[in-house]
Amino acid sequence: MKIGVLLSRVRVEEKLLFEEFEKRGLTFDRIDDREIIFNLDEKPFEYDVVLERCINHSRALYALKVLNDWGLRTVNTYHVANTCGNKFLTTQALIHSGVPSPKVKLAFTPESAIRAIEELGYPAVIKPPVGSWGRLLAKLNDREAAEAVLEHKETLGNYEHSLFYVQEFIAKPERDIRAFVIGDETICAIYRHSSHWITNTAKGGQASNCPVTPELNELCVKAAKAVGGGVVAIDVLEDKDRGLLVNEVNYTMEFRNSIDTTGVNIPAKVIDYLLEVGSGK
Ligand SMILES: Nc1ncnc2c1ncn2[C@@H]1O[C@H](COP(=O)(O)OP(=O)(O)O)[C@@H](O)[C@H]1O
Ligand SMILES: [Mg+2]
Repeated sequence: MKIGVLLSRVRVEEKLLFEEFEKRGLTFDRIDDREIIFNLDEKPFEYDVVLERCINHSRALYALKVLNDWGLRTVNTYHVANTCGNKFLTTQALIHSGVPSPKVKLAFTPESAIRAIEELGYPAVIKPPVGSWGRLLAKLNDREAAEAVLEHKETLGNYEHSLFYVQEFIAKPERDIRAFVIGDETICAIYRHSSHWITNTAKGGQASNCPVTPELNELCVKAAKAVGGGVVAIDVLEDKDRGLLVNEVNYTMEFRNSIDTTGVNIPAKVIDYLLEVGSGK
């Protein structure tokens, strides 16, 4: 099978994936997004499957579009990357597939955004529609904070920062859940503990194993299907009244903190799935 890996820098995750290829005696080509030039009117190359591991969302998105339009199979697909890379599109997909998620309002001006925030009630959360690693999220505890953040966004941000994605704050128990879905199965999950409201491990959240209950599995598989399916990592918030809510879905998942924590060989499962897709199943 001819395998390509689209990537930028080799991080811990890519190293682990490469080790897994080597263990199985599989060869693969690295396609470096810092060097590749796509002649758009020519099929760029022949692979049975390409694994996308870019760091930059726009590069991943554009490259996947080129590859899928030429009929190449990729993990994940352009459609999944496009939906997951944008929190607004993800929320739309979750709502329309009936996946429980925190309430979100969308507004286009600071004035209407304030009204949206006050309809949700304080505290509320505002997020750039495109972003990750907990960057530029704001918890708005009162009207003064909301006004300040909205003014800063409008004045200092680019146009995207004036697409106001406002979400209700979920008073979760000093942790959230990160669940890993591959195909039809939630293969494992971790809790991310933090006394800070942003629990990302990139922000210092501590990982511990989270048992995959049938409820968690069902919710996460449904969320994965809602965005198009594949290899995804799902952020789940625990609400004391409504139970589990899907916050977002990530499509180039990071898993370095989750292998020892869960005892599940995540890179091996990714490669199993990649080979399945590559064989055209
Ligand atoms: N509405 C919310 N209520 C409570 N906590 C939240 C909410 N939204 C985000 N968080 C916290 O912030 C973290 C990062 O938010 P997320 O939407 O996943 O953005 P990112 O793409 O930067 O990871 C979540 O894992 C969670 O800990
Ligand atoms: Mg997240």
